[in-house]
Amino acid sequence: MFISIEGIDGCGKTTQIKLLAEYMSQLDVEFTIVREPGGTKAGEEIRDILLHKEYHLYSESELLLFMAARAQIVREVIRPELEKGKTVIADRFMDSSVAYQGVGRRLGREIVQAMNSFAVGETVPDITLYIDVPADVAISRMRKERKNDKIEMESLDFFERVRKGYEKLICENRKRFVVIDGKQSEERVQADIRKSLSVLFDEKKPNGR
Ligand code: TYD
Repeated sequence: MFISIEGIDGCGKTTQIKLLAEYMSQLDVEFTIVREPGGTKAGEEIRDILLHKEYHLYSESELLLFMAARAQIVREVIRPELEKGKTVIADRFMDSSVAYQGVGRRLGREIVQAMNSFAVGETVPDITLYIDVPADVAISRMRKERKNDKIEMESLDFFERVRKGYEKLICENRKRFVVIDGKQSEERVQADIRKSLSVLFDEKKPNGR
């Protein structure tokens, strides 16, 4: 089972993935969590270039670097884990590039989708949980937490475009996406996440139940 988790910066993804990992370890399911960009040695270096180095990157270069990290993690980690029968949970995957680079940076959805197919081949998530928050809510959360990597410093306008990009993806992939209301309390968001995954793991109840 391949699960990806998506949302704009500040949607609460990191906390929710931590809570989800606690839940998954109570189930009789072997799982691995990977994060994009990163998750491999080469990928973590690419992450550093993308998010923390002082270089001025053109949007096209940015897109190619995200794709390089993705091509690497798919072959080095995701496919081998899935082949072993493990569940893989990806903290961001191909939809991030469509929303951020395709729509946010205005490079165009089609080109990004074509590059995604090249990078991932058949390795597409079975289910994608999208944690939805309005861009202004996301930005005020980021400012509060003092999150300030290169992309997190973008404007409200940028995050509004990214969110629109996700909305388009959801319309086109209704079967794969589950939308979770990220404005709720952390507990409610987590409960919704568990509920949407429980269908997939229905035969594996938490220990002692
Ligand atoms: P993330 O890991 O969610 O940030 P953090 O560790 O700070 O919570 O994501 C890193 C950033 O990279 C985020 O701003 C979104 C961006 N991103 C893209 O622009 N395109 C992509 O294809 C991916 C995977 C991430």
